[in-house]
Amino acid sequence: MSHRPALIDRLAQRTAERAQAQLLRRLRTVEHAEGPWLESDGRRLLSFCSNDYLGLAQHPQLIAALKRVADDEGVGSGSAHLICGHRAEHAALEEALAEWTGRERALLFSTGYMANLGVMQALLQDGDVCVQDKLNHACLLDGTQLAGAELKRYPHADVAGAARQLASRSEAAALLATDGVFSMDGDIAPLRELASLCRREGATFMVDDAHGLGVLGDDGAGSLSALALGQREVPVLMATLGKALGCHGAFIAGSSALIDGLLQSARTYIYTTAMPPALAAAALTAVRVAREEDWRREKLAASIARFRDGARQLSLPLMPSPTAIQPLLLGEAQAALDAAQALEAQGFLVGAIRPPTIPQGKARLRITLSAAHEEEHIDRLLEALSGLALAAPV
Ligand SMILES: Cc1ncc(COP(=O)(O)O)c(C=O)c1O
Repeated sequence: MSHRPALIDRLAQRTAERAQAQLLRRLRTVEHAEGPWLESDGRRLLSFCSNDYLGLAQHPQLIAALKRVADDEGVGSGSAHLICGHRAEHAALEEALAEWTGRERALLFSTGYMANLGVMQALLQDGDVCVQDKLNHACLLDGTQLAGAELKRYPHADVAGAARQLASRSEAAALLATDGVFSMDGDIAPLRELASLCRREGATFMVDDAHGLGVLGDDGAGSLSALALGQREVPVLMATLGKALGCHGAFIAGSSALIDGLLQSARTYIYTTAMPPALAAAALTAVRVAREEDWRREKLAASIARFRDGARQLSLPLMPSPTAIQPLLLGEAQAALDAAQALEAQGFLVGAIRPPTIPQGKARLRITLSAAHEEEHIDRLLEALSGLALAAPV
């Protein structure tokens, strides 16, 4: 009789430990979505937890593009890009994304998670170093591990800390990777300073702009465009299609050398089915709408200002975020959970973010705003928050 640990039992034990620590994750089924309104368990809830920042997920032109191509081409692409899955819709979308972000080329991936894994696995190898902000998204950390490079993290947004980490491996090939807009905090990385550091140190700079594309910069081209950081300063750009663009998927943009290399070496690109062409057509429409409809960014900016003004007046524990992600820092996991439940009882859906997604003692409500919200929605949320007696952790 073997004495090996039983894998599923071990997993069940970990789940039980999470439950005991009040950190169990729960799946919610949404029965219907309409603008910022969701129906779940038969109740209508006003959502402040979606990343559909421009309100494009239900845009009639996106829906029409999806339907048109599905009618013509069917649903699945049927194959990986390099076999016979790469359709005209994918090619057109890649061209539009490259043009929008001011890069030579772009390459589509099925998700942002896969894009980050793929680009890191293709660029990095054993003996290299990858320097990352401590608050980077989980998939950037996982990508380094997959690549077998050494991961060195620096304190959040600390350029001197990043410099120290690079200096500690001054001979190694180095990638410095950061979120452009931090997904759980909403603040923007010191991109210009990090770009200069990378230039001085000969490190390659990579920015994950999942939460910046569509929202920041002239015509929404993202956090790099807002600072006029081109392909020379930031050779590796990743952004997603599933947030402000209201679709699904992601891309890497950069030089022809980068994209040609990914096509040969990025395993999460090579060994997976291409996204449905109808989805690529919807995303292409989303790029056009996001660029043209400036009023969506203006409305979002007005909502951010309204929320922050109101929250300040109520002395709510706001974090220093200029973007659509407006977390309220509450400290203990239970405090965040209690606040989210109290809001839900009043008809609002807000995410409670707890460890290990964020550090211990930094649990928060992650409130996200969208161009789909009206002033009255923001005011109603503020009123509900005012009744909760929320306080920053001491
Ligand atoms: C910063 C960041 N990068 C990457 C991802 C992953 O993108 P996707 O949802 O397309 O896998 C996310 C969130 O989902 C994110 O917040």
